[in-house]
Amino acid sequence: MALDEFTRSHWYAIGRLEDVPDGGSRSTRLLGHDVVAERRAEALSIRLKADGAPLKAQERYGHVWTTLHDDPRPLYDIPEFEEKGRRLVTAGCVSVRCSGLRAVENFLDLAHFPFVHAGILGVEEQATVEQYEVEPDRNEDELWATSCKFYQPRAAATAESGQVTHYKYRVPHPFSTILYKTCPIRDDAWDLIGLFIQPVEEDLSDVHSFVLVFDEDNSDTDLLHFQQTIFLQDRFILENQVPRLLPLVPGSETPTRADASSIAYRRWLRKKGLTYGALPAIRAA
Ligand SMILES: [Fe+2]
Repeated sequence: MALDEFTRSHWYAIGRLEDVPDGGSRSTRLLGHDVVAERRAEALSIRLKADGAPLKAQERYGHVWTTLHDDPRPLYDIPEFEEKGRRLVTAGCVSVRCSGLRAVENFLDLAHFPFVHAGILGVEEQATVEQYEVEPDRNEDELWATSCKFYQPRAAATAESGQVTHYKYRVPHPFSTILYKTCPIRDDAWDLIGLFIQPVEEDLSDVHSFVLVFDEDNSDTDLLHFQQTIFLQDRFILENQVPRLLPLVPGSETPTRADASSIAYRRWLRKKGLTYGALPAIRAA
C-alpha cells in the first residue's frame, strides 16, 4: 500500500537518546525508508539515507523522534513526563514481525491478560472483562478507554499481592499507546507504561517501550525485567497472528478479539483514512 497522509503526518520514535550518543550514529528504517540519525557536537540530525535529504528531528520522552513529513502534526503531550519523582525506564527496541497496528490493538486488549499473562496480569478463574468506556477526545485526535478494571495477581513490579487494578488507555497516535494504571504505592497517581512503535515496514515493527512510575524499591533492572517478561509473552502472540496486517473491515475477525477498544480503534483508523499496515475493505473482502 502507498503511504497514507495520516500515517505520514506523524512523528515516530526511532531510538532512545542513548542510542545516538555524541559522535555516534544510528541507522534504522521508518515506513519503508532507510534513515540515519547522528549527533555531532551535541546537535542531533536525521536524514534519509537514499538522497541525504534532511528530516525534522526532536528529542522527547527519552527518545529521538523524526517524521517523513514537511509539516507534521505536533507530537502529542505526555504531561506526566514533567512530574517530579517519577522514574523513566526505557527498554530499547524489540523487533516484532507484525503491523504496528496489531501491537497497539494487543496492548489495548484486556481479555488476553488471564491467558497470555497468566499469574501476572490475570488469572483464568477471573477472566471476565467488565464493561468500560471508550471514546475519542473532542477533536477525534485521540482515543481514550476509561473505567477499565481487572483482578491481577501481580500487577506491577512493586505489587506484593493481588489487587483489582484500575486502568485507562490512551491512543494519542495510530502507532503509540499509553496505559495508565493504579500506582501500588500512591493513591493520587497513575503509573504509565507506553509503546512508541516505529513502523519499519507494513508488517515489521520496532517497538520502543517505556515505564514512567513512582517506585522507590525496585531497581531499573527489576522494572525492565518485569516489562520484558510481559512483552515477550505478547510478542509470541503477535508474531503468530494471521494476517500480519490489521484488518479494518468490521466483523472480519472473531468477536473475542473485537472488544470495545479494538472496535473503536479500528473505527478511528478507518475514519482517518489510514491504510499503512492495514488490510482495507477491498483487499479483505
Ligand atoms: Fe499483553
